[in-house]
Amino acid sequence: MSAGIHGGLTSYGDTGFSRFVRSVFLAAAGYDACDTERPVVGVGHSISDYTPCHREMPGLLEAVRRGVLEAGGLPLVFPTLSLGETLLNPTSMVLRNLLSLEVEELIRAQPMDGVVLLGGCDKTVPGQLMGAVSADRPALEVVAGPMIAGNWRGERVGACTDCRRMWARHRAGDMDDDEIGAASEVLAPTGGTCMVMGTASTMAVLTEVLGLGVPGSATAPAPSGDRLRVGAQSGRRAVEMAAEGLRPGRILTRASFLNAAATLGAIGGSTNAVVHLLALAGRARVDLSLRDLGEAAAAVPVIVDCRPSGAGFLDDLHDAGGVPALLSELAPHLDLTAATALGATLGESLEGIDGSPPWPSVLRPLGNPLFGGDGLVALFGSLAPDGAVLKASAASAGLLRHRGPAVVFDGAADVQDRIDEVDADADSVLVLRGCGPVEAGMPEAGSVPIPRRLAAAGVTDMVRVSDGRMSGTAFGTVVLHVAPEAAGGPLGLVRDGDLIELDVHARRLDLLVEAGELERRRAQLLERAPLGGTRWRNLQARIIGQASQGADIEVKGADAK
Ligand code: FES
Repeated sequence: MSAGIHGGLTSYGDTGFSRFVRSVFLAAAGYDACDTERPVVGVGHSISDYTPCHREMPGLLEAVRRGVLEAGGLPLVFPTLSLGETLLNPTSMVLRNLLSLEVEELIRAQPMDGVVLLGGCDKTVPGQLMGAVSADRPALEVVAGPMIAGNWRGERVGACTDCRRMWARHRAGDMDDDEIGAASEVLAPTGGTCMVMGTASTMAVLTEVLGLGVPGSATAPAPSGDRLRVGAQSGRRAVEMAAEGLRPGRILTRASFLNAAATLGAIGGSTNAVVHLLALAGRARVDLSLRDLGEAAAAVPVIVDCRPSGAGFLDDLHDAGGVPALLSELAPHLDLTAATALGATLGESLEGIDGSPPWPSVLRPLGNPLFGGDGLVALFGSLAPDGAVLKASAASAGLLRHRGPAVVFDGAADVQDRIDEVDADADSVLVLRGCGPVEAGMPEAGSVPIPRRLAAAGVTDMVRVSDGRMSGTAFGTVVLHVAPEAAGGPLGLVRDGDLIELDVHARRLDLLVEAGELERRRAQLLERAPLGGTRWRNLQARIIGQASQGADIEVKGADAK
């Protein structure tokens, strides 16, 4: 039996008065008993002018509201923090955990029997989900949906893999100022999230796989009728879930996270999802290590031909049947007993769904993959004792086993200042440190640009190593999330000229410097300053964990039920 609007009364020391005064203010908002006797579904949205990717969200919000009403519920709308990837300084990641705290507290503090959360841009979905998992009330995520691809002189292009490709051409002198200016108007032509398999698309897919979004909800384009139907269906389903008491704690298991990791590998998904999945597993108290996640992801071939690993876009995946078709094809690699948002098992939810379609599409059969496996791998070694990640499917095959001398940058500003002057050649390993969770909040700076002189000479990729992240839309042989970060880890000991060895097949990342020499360097090391400057940043820097644990904040005694 749901508590409805009378759940979680405001504390005035008189329960009767608390109920009475609540009804006074609900009456002021136009609600009568016909409304207030219904189960309440909170609808948390992230509409903001600072998040252009969510510009279609007002229509989606109305669709969710309609669905809740149709199923006999009372939808009550509330805002959550909205994190627009390209309009936040220094990086949206600094605010993901703050969003999760806000969402958890709002779900716990406000009367609601269930909740639907509307997110989309990269950190909004993991932040909202982390809060919802901690609050553990029946919850569904509804993503904004991807943009539709743009057109540049007859070629389909999209944000932001092609933003990066075109910017690299501009840096190499291949596109002039007028051309790059004109390109900026076609790379993101509609509302919605980046339409390549970047972080937003990856998290949309994984949300569905985890059972926190309704089947078919990940890929419908933002401006489409399909997207609005997903909204209405989710609203209706949220009312049912509230009645069933189907909480994240009853859905999320180790099996569902391993399914998500396998899917992450199969879609050539964003490395950022590794951090978010580990954080979500921590919130759900599911035992999942970076090594587990990396092995599950590496064990499956990449079968979705979307950029940056492949060529297509999210609307192509939607046309091919979306996530249900993908999971149907991927079924031999999945635990089909995992739960879904429908209450059925994954296996039951896939009955009657065709896998890879008979016509050419971005969804390939397992027998004809885009990349045969090891598309996303976790690496360990003397340079990353607690792990690092690499999206090998978006890297250069010739660099997956490589040894080269380090060229070290301390922080993203150092790259900006010196990248075009450094003494590097195509074999150098560009090391960017000072971008870890404690020191910098993990900005997406890990994809260090190729020095202009080398780019002009035709070098398109080099091995790069960082304790930061990179955008899911980016590509190249970029080792990320090195843990421990430079502040405390061996990454802080690297000097120009040290040899670094990457061996993806052996899952190794090593610094080829003798232990004694590293000890001497450690004794001379200056302390690295944590990210500060505001109350939240100071607080977070003191309690944030490493990337290998999801970069979540660690608070003793949290997770009270
Ligand atoms: Fe919002 Fe890419 S910038 S999803």
